[in-house]
Amino acid sequence: QAGRQFVGAGREVARRCFSSAAEAPERKVAVLGAAGGIGQTLSLLMKMSPSVTKLSLYDIVNTPGVAADCSHVNTGAQVTGHVGADQLDDALKGCDVVVIPAGVPRKPGMTRDDLFAINAGIVAGLVDGVARNCPEALITMISNPVNSTVPIAAEVLKKHGVYNPKKLFGVTTLDVVRAKTFYAEKNGLDVNTVDVPVVGGHAGITILPLFSQATPSAQMDQETIEALTVRTQNGGTEVVEAKAGKGSATLSMAYAGALFADAALRGLNGVQDVVECTYVESSVTDVPFFSSKVKLGPEGVSEIYGLGDLTDYEKDALDKMMPELQASIDKGIDFVKNM
Ligand code: NAD
Ligand code: LMR
Repeated sequence: QAGRQFVGAGREVARRCFSSAAEAPERKVAVLGAAGGIGQTLSLLMKMSPSVTKLSLYDIVNTPGVAADCSHVNTGAQVTGHVGADQLDDALKGCDVVVIPAGVPRKPGMTRDDLFAINAGIVAGLVDGVARNCPEALITMISNPVNSTVPIAAEVLKKHGVYNPKKLFGVTTLDVVRAKTFYAEKNGLDVNTVDVPVVGGHAGITILPLFSQATPSAQMDQETIEALTVRTQNGGTEVVEAKAGKGSATLSMAYAGALFADAALRGLNGVQDVVECTYVESSVTDVPFFSSKVKLGPEGVSEIYGLGDLTDYEKDALDKMMPELQASIDKGIDFVKNM
């Protein structure tokens, strides 16, 4: 009885998280870093997605086990496991979407930028593989620091002559997930009905939730708005400190990463009006990469929306983030130029 209830609950989660498989074309998704804290749960969620027909799990360690485990889940996607650099090409051939959660996570006291020294090279190597094997694929970048790893990916793709800005995304969905949760809790709203756009980037003050545009609208005083803004900006640090040296957000990130991958797949499959906040090449502000609401379509990005009306507090926060965002972007670009 308990087992049946669990499977029923799993199907309900899948129904709520994912699009319908009806008439959907075949889609191959790769998870690079699939044996990690995010990668394992994200792989399970992708296996539960009716949009995925082939699921390719790549890591430098342990993927045979993760793939064998995941393959026993009785859903449609065919799972393959690939381990080590020699098997990267096989993992990537024919992919429609490549999700990248590979790299080291933070420990208490570190910033996301402290991960650059290790993760920049990891990401550059993996995107090189994408450029050689599936240059048409959508790339959804989770590895931190996202503000720099996305520009790194763009430069690597440019070196191969295959960069398409419509197909490269930094995943900022976890910031939206957090903002929705905190806003709903604070205002006694049903979280399933809540939306909060989050713009900027994915680190500290570059994360800017626009509570003035949250729906349904709730009256909050300035002190409450500032407290919720800071909590959203520090959501990652809150988890890093609670985990006390055992890594950063994995479960909520896997959920957010799966939501974004599914949105990308729905867009590819021609579903109308798929809109997510995501960090893309953008002319919405003066910096070349920026997260705002983006419509996803068969080519990837189909429209990038502007910021709408901002309060003075939000305008000020936007101005203040610009130097940090530009510096992180420049650091990523310079890294590839000097490689
Ligand atoms: P983890 O250490 O648990 O897992 C990382 C995995 O990457 C490991 O299995 C490791 O073997 C693998 N890996 C390392 N080098 C690789 C390579 N060259 N090719 C393929 N795989 C490789 O870490 P985690 O908790 O899963 O976090 C992964 C990354 O995601 C970190 O950089 C973290 O900061 C980031 N993250 C981003 C967000 C976001 O909102 N964008 C949220 C949470 C975590
Ligand atoms: C997060 O927001 O949880 C991630 O970026 C991981 C981190 O280092 O905070």
